[in-house]
Amino acid sequence: IKKITTHTLQKMKASGEKISMLTAYDYSFAGIFDAAGMDVILVGDSASNVMAGHETTLPITLDQMIYHAASVIRAVKRSLVVVDLPFGTYQSNSEIALASAIRIMKETGAHAIKLEGGEEVLESIERIVKAGIPVMGHLGLTPQSIYQFGTYAVRATQNEEAQKLQNDVQLLQKAGCFAVVLEKIPAQLAKKVTESVHIPTIGIGAGPHCDGQVLVMHDMLGINTEFKPRFLRQYLNLHEQITAAVKQYIADVKSNDFPNDNESY
Ligand code: KIV
Ligand code: NA
Repeated sequence: IKKITTHTLQKMKASGEKISMLTAYDYSFAGIFDAAGMDVILVGDSASNVMAGHETTLPITLDQMIYHAASVIRAVKRSLVVVDLPFGTYQSNSEIALASAIRIMKETGAHAIKLEGGEEVLESIERIVKAGIPVMGHLGLTPQSIYQFGTYAVRATQNEEAQKLQNDVQLLQKAGCFAVVLEKIPAQLAKKVTESVHIPTIGIGAGPHCDGQVLVMHDMLGINTEFKPRFLRQYLNLHEQITAAVKQYIADVKSNDFPNDNESY
């Protein structure tokens, strides 16, 4: 099997092949996504929401991210595995940021880290890249800053924020990021940004002009049914299918249908 590397992604951008990326948080799903041909598996801090039930991504810890990432890595043969640095593990200074990134690389076997922000975290990005760790950036609606934004609405619709984003993506490229996630920004801005850099842009709610797309697995598989933003395409209704299966199992147990003779020793 030919493994996907950060260089593969750069070549994909250059040749116009779109990059597929999906989150996973455990061994079983990561194995399915890897075997299906996913280019990038993101161990997102969205685990805080979809795995742990928190309202935001802020509470998840580095130890918890490491547990998820190590589980994912054990299943993966081909995909590039990127792990989010959680809130509070890289913002204070670059030394702490580097220590956090090193823990992820050493304790999980992951291939890259991702962190949120532009100019504010540039020194941390530079230091992590200098240590030989590939870094994916993340701009636009960065969920770790949700209390500063106060809303999950589309970002960078005004000129000032759009200008800052365009400046930030240049800084990220210069600092050595191998790719950047663009979350919930206007499609035309994402197009402009994508054309302005040689590193791939991976969009979520950022329109069709990005070099790749990413979704949260629980959203696209329909496990989550409350979260239905405009940008989400739901490929399954697993919530419905799992509910039907589980209800059938309950009924079979209650009615003594399960287990039958063939299912007994
Ligand atoms: O944590 C996450 O799932 C993410 C993606 C939505 C990009 O950062
Ligand atoms: Na994230």
